[in-house]
Amino acid sequence: MATVVNQERSGTGSSTDRPVLQVEDLRITYRTGRSGRAVEAVRGVSFDLYPRQALALVGESGCGKSTLALGLLRLLPRLGGISGGSIRYQPQGGGDPVDVRALEGRRLRAWRWSEVAMVFQGAMNAFNPVLRIEDQFADTIRAHAEGNGRAARPSMREVRERAAENLRAVRLEPARVLGSYPHELSGGMRQRVLIALSLVLEPQVLLMDEPTTALDLLTQRSIVDMLRELREERGFALIFISHDLALASELSDRVATMYAGRIIETGATPEVFAHPRHPYTSGLMRAVPRVRGGGPGPVSIPGSPPDLAHPPAGCAFAARCPHVRDACHETDPPLETVAVSNGPELTAHRAACLRWRELAEEAAAADDAEQAADAGQTDDAEQAELPQQKGATE
Ligand SMILES: Nc1ncnc2c1ncn2[C@@H]1O[C@H](COP(=O)(O)OP(=O)(O)O)[C@@H](O)[C@H]1O
Ligand code: SF4
Ligand SMILES: [Mg+2]
Repeated sequence: MATVVNQERSGTGSSTDRPVLQVEDLRITYRTGRSGRAVEAVRGVSFDLYPRQALALVGESGCGKSTLALGLLRLLPRLGGISGGSIRYQPQGGGDPVDVRALEGRRLRAWRWSEVAMVFQGAMNAFNPVLRIEDQFADTIRAHAEGNGRAARPSMREVRERAAENLRAVRLEPARVLGSYPHELSGGMRQRVLIALSLVLEPQVLLMDEPTTALDLLTQRSIVDMLRELREERGFALIFISHDLALASELSDRVATMYAGRIIETGATPEVFAHPRHPYTSGLMRAVPRVRGGGPGPVSIPGSPPDLAHPPAGCAFAARCPHVRDACHETDPPLETVAVSNGPELTAHRAACLRWRELAEEAAAADDAEQAADAGQTDDAEQAELPQQKGATE
């Protein structure tokens, strides 16, 4: 029988910090079609997010990234639901962790946005098109004040002050933006306003789902730079969802690769990018075009992910994996620790591949051979240069 173990525990964070978010064996299921067929889009995801940490969730379209984010915020569509596992949240003021699955009604609304906020995919749809930006801020701030049972409704002056402070934080000019309608702003400005709106209630965790996908490269770059500075200033934890590995690597301390509803590799970002141990992560990295020339061109991963209505028995990546063996079709690989980085923040590097050890040895041998070849070339070049140098001094 297939072993089903898919756990990712612990992560970056100092030993004295408690995780702000603890997700354990989370499962999310959609009922689809007339028959109400079940599709498990998130299949046993576990991770801890520590205060001030930035975690990137990467993977191809359809692997369950948005479903996971919506599930964490309890914002799943009607036909979707959490079918197993737990989400625990550590409140800012201390005290016992909150069981997020048990939150309902007013308590859930008060928790959302003020503790954990989300910037959605597609900046235009997230706005109410008939409200000026200042009214969008007023809605968010007042809804939260009412959710908390605050007697005094914040005045428009108070709203404008808080909105202006947050707009300045995302490098926008409040006087230019507050009185505008969403359609009067550029895509990049709208995305910044959304970020300001999500931060206005000072959440401890910000979830961003492909926040820059629809933007041109220069705008993406300026938003990523702004986000990095903003995180340093405000210190929120970030879950950054992207299919763009380059952006993910720039913004995150830790990365988790998702495939077919699971985390199949995770670890400190530099470590995972330098030594990917799952063939799917390696494939994603080879699929990224290099900015500078040299090396082989991008190679996409052939095939497509499995149908989650009928997940395969063994490794979900087996049908596409260049290293597949018979055993891969039978055993569902557990997430195993493949390396532990030393330093003030211990971060386990984990991967769910039956052959990771062999493949790591092969990669190390290939690196050694490459280095030896490089050294040989350098020696040859030096030898070839010597007579010339000699000749030059004579
Ligand atoms: N509203 C929905 N109803 C039914 N299935 C859905 C719905 N949203 C997503 N799915 C399915 O869940 C899986 C994961 O989708 P999604 O979370 O959007 O992936 P990603 O964000 O990684 O592209 C896909 O197979 C998708 O078809
Ligand atoms: S378990 Fe087998 S099929 Fe799956 S990633 Fe590893 S080598 Fe490839
Ligand atoms: Mg998505």
